[in-house]
Amino acid sequence: RTLWLIVPAAGQGRRMGADRPKQYLTLGEQPILAHTLARLYQAFPEAVLVLCLDSDDAWFQPEWVPFARWQRVSGGEERMDSVLNALVAIAAQEDDIVMVHDVARPCITPDDLHTLYQAACRHPSGALLAMPVADTMKRASAECHSMRTEPRDGLWHALTPQGFRYALLLEALQSARCHQRLVTDEASAVEALGEQPLLVSGRRDNLKVTHPDDLALASAILVAQLD
Ligand code: C5P
Repeated sequence: RTLWLIVPAAGQGRRMGADRPKQYLTLGEQPILAHTLARLYQAFPEAVLVLCLDSDDAWFQPEWVPFARWQRVSGGEERMDSVLNALVAIAAQEDDIVMVHDVARPCITPDDLHTLYQAACRHPSGALLAMPVADTMKRASAECHSMRTEPRDGLWHALTPQGFRYALLLEALQSARCHQRLVTDEASAVEALGEQPLLVSGRRDNLKVTHPDDLALASAILVAQLD
């Protein structure tokens, strides 16, 4: 059975306020995109990579792709459109596992990748890496006043990767698009079909590089993980 790794990398990363999309900012010697692909390859050298890139992307260099089998697809308006473009472009079997991983999460470890893959294979509704919420959660008014405290029991942060059978994920994202429902991860689309993907507790250092401060943090995490 083929494992497909879809990496949405067509975002602009505007919250970063940099001169280029955030996946091309450098951590150590390499751009974030190269770190992320290297981690995925370390865990799954036989997988097929599907990389979603903006059609106007002027930064991408194919030498950053370590995979023997890979294809490039055009990104869409939103992250879910990029992932759907990838699903439509590949010649996958219904039962193949598709794992989607944000390019902006370069600190993903091979251990977490393997754990999630096993869970996605075992669980028909799929699985996602996630982290139980540690802080007290506040519901804010538009003026940023704390209106109440939400119980944090049973609340998790959704991370990536998220893994599903090909046919289920395709149906879920097509249905989300058809109903014009904007989803920010794959699991939301699958939940809307009445499925309950498995939450798999992942490492806390699987950071999504989003704000300028995150660069130094991600660099430190990458160095610490090598020790
Ligand atoms: O901006 P944010 O960090 O939420 O984006 C999550 C991921 O989705 C990133 O890897 C980004 O490159 C990707 N993305 C995409 N196509 C878009 C928007 C975001 O592939 N239209």
